[in-house]
Amino acid sequence: MTNLNDRDGIESQYMQYPYPAPISNMRERIQLGYQQGSSPDLIWNKLFPEKPYKDNLNVLIAGCGTNQAIYHALMFPNSQHYAIDVSDKSLRHVANMIKAYDIKNLEIEKKDIVDLTHDNEFDYVISTGVIHHTKKPQESLSKLLQTSKNDGALFIMVYASYLRIGVYYLQDAFRYLDLKPDKKGIEAAKKLIELSPKNHYAHNYIKAITNTTGTKDLSFDAGFVDTFFNARDKAYDIFELKELIDNAGAYFQCWDDNAWFYRSLFNFPKTGGLIQSFNALDPWQLADFTQKMSPNTGKFAFILRKQKEYEHRFFNILDVLPTTYAHAYRLTDVEPSDIASNCGGVIGYNKLRVKLNVIERIIWDNLGGEILDVQGKSNELFLKHGIDKNLSFESLREILHAYWKNGYVTFSDVP
Ligand SMILES: C[S@@+](CC[C@H](N)C(=O)[O-])C[C@H]1O[C@@H](n2cnc3c(N)ncnc32)[C@H](O)[C@@H]1O
Repeated sequence: MTNLNDRDGIESQYMQYPYPAPISNMRERIQLGYQQGSSPDLIWNKLFPEKPYKDNLNVLIAGCGTNQAIYHALMFPNSQHYAIDVSDKSLRHVANMIKAYDIKNLEIEKKDIVDLTHDNEFDYVISTGVIHHTKKPQESLSKLLQTSKNDGALFIMVYASYLRIGVYYLQDAFRYLDLKPDKKGIEAAKKLIELSPKNHYAHNYIKAITNTTGTKDLSFDAGFVDTFFNARDKAYDIFELKELIDNAGAYFQCWDDNAWFYRSLFNFPKTGGLIQSFNALDPWQLADFTQKMSPNTGKFAFILRKQKEYEHRFFNILDVLPTTYAHAYRLTDVEPSDIASNCGGVIGYNKLRVKLNVIERIIWDNLGGEILDVQGKSNELFLKHGIDKNLSFESLREILHAYWKNGYVTFSDVP
């Protein structure tokens, strides 16, 4: 049993700087559209491609920080939530919110992940941005897996080294100068970042997270400290991540967003050695290739399962059957289409924009059913609009699988 009075650097850091910035009006924020990536409704087909949606889950939130547990409890009133953290201050905020909203479906406890005693209990285990701060990430992940039911799913996020390399250079540099995570230290660090050459690797990271709509980590002290003064954090490359997962005895099901790891970067010639070598890459090699050619993520967010049958679900195109369901994922209409004027419109998500031709638009609009149905409906519409196209199952599957690799589509076995 970990002695929680043994102040660990991590515990003190998150005591002093609870993370993320506490939200005190979560209900209003949710009404205004606030969402968390771990929301089961948003990623259901990623979590449980074999099951129809249900909202009465038994959920563990490990390392809940300030807002995650309240968000889930409010959003999913039919689910039961158990949330742990080692930061008293974060848990105090959660407790205040439980009281303020009279929340009945959330139990919280001060506990280290490795001290969890639950076995085979949770349908859904969430641990985002936590394992890489723990003393023994391997032990932490194994423990989380143990708490999951056999048919449960785990949503995990750990740091990825590809975009974070400059962060670690700066963490080291600030340590050389004995900067501390206090007002003076934070100011000095900000000044040094300003003075660092613009091609310093850290600027790629800073630019990337400033451009996302995420937590705007560098704009508040707790986020800045979390990034540049963290008491303990480790980033993984793809093969270190694979080792972490393999050693825990877990099976990697999928990324929460395939685009970071499988998106098409190049149009290789259809024949020849390049495309052959590229097509032969296994899912880990492809992810490593994509990030090494275009290092643009500091995070791995992914879903783990306990059973081998779910490993790399749908990576192999032959896993996609005529009876597989294909769904639009994340991207929604940004510019309308006008098929009669040969305009497919634009779909998007955050700052991503994808221009569709009319064939792609017709396919996109017919997603949400079995692929056989998508095929039938799309072909009917091609005919109706005088478009000279008749998709075979195989050619449609290829298009949909490419969408899946780019992160626009999810597959499932059930509606
Ligand atoms: C970066 S925050 C992430 C918070 C939350 N999961 C989120 O995504 O908003 C990391 C949290 O993990 C907690 N933590 C760190 N080590 C832990 C451990 N061994 N067991 C439980 N919680 C831990 C910290 O106190 C902190 O609240």
